This record gives sequence, structure tokens and C-alpha cells, in this order.
Amino acid sequence: MFVVVGVTGGIAAYKTVHLVRRLIGEGHEVHVVPTEDALRFVGKPTWEAISRNPVTTSVHEDVATVRHVSLGQRADLVIVAPATANTLAKMASGLADDLLGTTLLATTAPVVVAPAMHTEMWRHPATQQNMRVLRSRGVHVVGPADGPLTGGDSGPGRMSEPDEIADAALAVVAAAVSGRAQDLAGLRVVVSAGGTREPLDPVRFLGNRSSGRQGVALAVAAADRGAEVTLVAAHIDGEVLGGLSDRVRVVSVGTALEMRDAVTDAASVADVVVMAAAVADYRPAEVAELKLTKETQGDRVTLELVENPDIVAGLAAGRSPGQTIVAFAAETSTGEELLQRARRKRERKDVDLLVVNEVGWTRGFECADNEVVVIDRSGDVAAQASGSKREVADAVWDAVVAARL
Ligand code: C5P
Repeated sequence: MFVVVGVTGGIAAYKTVHLVRRLIGEGHEVHVVPTEDALRFVGKPTWEAISRNPVTTSVHEDVATVRHVSLGQRADLVIVAPATANTLAKMASGLADDLLGTTLLATTAPVVVAPAMHTEMWRHPATQQNMRVLRSRGVHVVGPADGPLTGGDSGPGRMSEPDEIADAALAVVAAAVSGRAQDLAGLRVVVSAGGTREPLDPVRFLGNRSSGRQGVALAVAAADRGAEVTLVAAHIDGEVLGGLSDRVRVVSVGTALEMRDAVTDAASVADVVVMAAAVADYRPAEVAELKLTKETQGDRVTLELVENPDIVAGLAAGRSPGQTIVAFAAETSTGEELLQRARRKRERKDVDLLVVNEVGWTRGFECADNEVVVIDRSGDVAAQASGSKREVADAVWDAVVAARL
């Protein structure tokens, strides 16, 4: 494969050396196109030695081969790593004042960018607006990761690891060849699924009928569409979990509080969080040390319950820029009443999308099919889907992709 690796002026450029080595090692023809600034971090001899191809930043060299467009035309894949805030802004505006700019405008190949910058620059509305523009044009974004930055500070802004960038970029190309949509490539998503259990004593719990099937279908669909997926699973049968692909990381939890901790942890670096789990609204105020017996309790028992934290509302209140939060609602009402309740719930939790489904004694739980309506921030019906839980999952991800534009 003919791969162009654009390198822009960030300290993470040294990690891109490993990315180029890996691509070369896998037999690809790699052409490195640095910006002038990038060469202040890693020099031309390194790029030429490692890629085994000549390197220039200028559109005025090698004019006879019309290099300023030929690299872009020949490319099967273009990766920009690190992609600085400045380069992302230039890409969003279509500026082409150097060889990387002209190459990016001349290519029809998939473009994968790995942003790297300080947290403040990443969070700036201008950068976030540019990311939306680039995503809407089909550019795939990998990272940035959350962690230590060069100034000694820490937060989202670190370039993703070279292997992660290579994996995502190669998956994008593989999907393009197979014709399968990879519209979630480069995104980290967290899906919660199943039902929490709140212990009363060592052998009993308050639980619910959620099987986790819809959440598992969401996780598998996201992985199929290129996302890096963490599934926070509460009491899901091994048989239901069996359908998971290798690319889904599973974190098992029991109670609502355990789910909050696991989801909050995974959400700190996630682009999208989908809370499909049925979380207990209340838990017993006290958990008995020993099994409750008729001898000690008599013929009538009163349980005192305390409210659990609303996990998804907490995530939405503390969401990072560009993060999409999706809640589910299982409702026993119908028709217009169902929609009104859904709109109020979306607003109360301040989530980007609310997926509502009608449930009852015979509907929604433990079965293979589902029927949902997705409400967006303006209260409109963003999507409606019925069919297998996988079909519903894909409709939810379509709505997520549309909401992120
Ligand atoms: O308010 P209700 O329980 O109907 O909201 C359902 C949505 O809120 C689901 O997405 C569920 O995962 C989430 N939820 C939560 N924390 C709770 C209860 C529900 O995140 N304690």
C-alpha cells in the first residue's frame, strides 16, 4: 500500500518514527511529508533513512514529477501524526501553503489524523469546531489520549501511541476495501449493559430483568464500525457475552456504585458513552451481614432504600468537549405520553441523545427484538428503529454519528 505520513510540528513527532517503522515493516511504501516546523523536532535524515524515500516539505522541489499533487493522487492512505491545532485548522480551511497541504487536497484516500496539543488548545472551541468540520468530511480521528503532557501538566492532548494509530488507520483501509462503514474508527466508546444487583444480605439482591442483549449488540456494532470499545457489564450471561469480538474490553461490575466507578473511569478518555444498562435507582440502606431469616424478621418486612447516584447525569454534567453522552429509557407508557416523558428525561439528564423503548411484562426484556425512538437535544425524533437488537444498535450509532457532526 502507498502510505503518506504527514508529520507536523509537535514533540510527539519522535513517536511517529515508530509509526513509519511499523508501516515499513509490514511492507508498505511510505512517504513522509513533514511541515517545516516538524523538522525542528525530527530532522530530514531520520525520515529519509527510516522511510527509504526522499523527503521534502516544499512544493518547489522535484517539480518535474508534479510532486505537490502526485503523492496525494497515489496515496491509498494518508496519516497525519502528530496533527497540531494549527494543522487541523489549516485542514479544516483547505489551506495548501506547503507540500502536506497540497497533498491533503489532492487525495481521495482515507485520511487519519492523530491530534497532539495541550489540553487547553484541544478544548478550545475553535479546535473543536475544526474537528467537527473534519469529521463531517470523513476524516478519521485517533485520540488524543489523556495523560502527561510535555509541560509537566496532564490531560487530554497526548498523541495516541503509534501502534494504536497504525491499527486504526489500517482498519479504516480494510473497511474501505470491504465496503463496510468504519464511521466510528478512531473513536473510543464506552457501553454499559445488563442490570445492576443491589445486595440485601449475602444471598439476596434487588435486581431487574435486563439481559444485556441490547448493550452487547451496541458494543459489537461499534467494534464492527471501527471503534475501540469498553463494555461495562452488569450480570450478563456468558451466552450473551459470547458474541463479543476480541476488540471489546469487558469490565464486569455488580452494583450501581461499582458501575458508576467503572463507567466514570472508562469515560475519562472516551469520545462516546452509551448507558444502556438498567441501573437500580435505589439500593438497600443497609446490607445485612448475615442472611435475613423469618425468625429474625417476622411475617412482614420493611426495607429502607436510599437513592443511587444518577451515573449518566453525572457524566453529562462533567463531559469533556466533543464527548457524546447517550442514555436509554425503558418506559411503560405509550404514544405521545411516551415521547413527552422521553423529552423531559433527556432534558433532566442533559444527555445528547435519549433512546427510549416501550417495555412491559412481555416486551423489551430478554427477547431478540426491540423497537426504539431516539430523541435529540432539540427534542426531535432523530431516529426510529425496530428489528433485531443489532439493527437497533446500528440505528443508534447512525444517530450518534449524525449528532457528532
Ligand atoms: O431515570 P431512568 O432510570 O429511567 O434513566 C435511564 C437511563 O439512565 C439509562 O441510560 C440508565 O443507564 C441511566 N441511569 C444511570 N444511573 C442511575 C439510573 C439510571 O446512569 N442511577
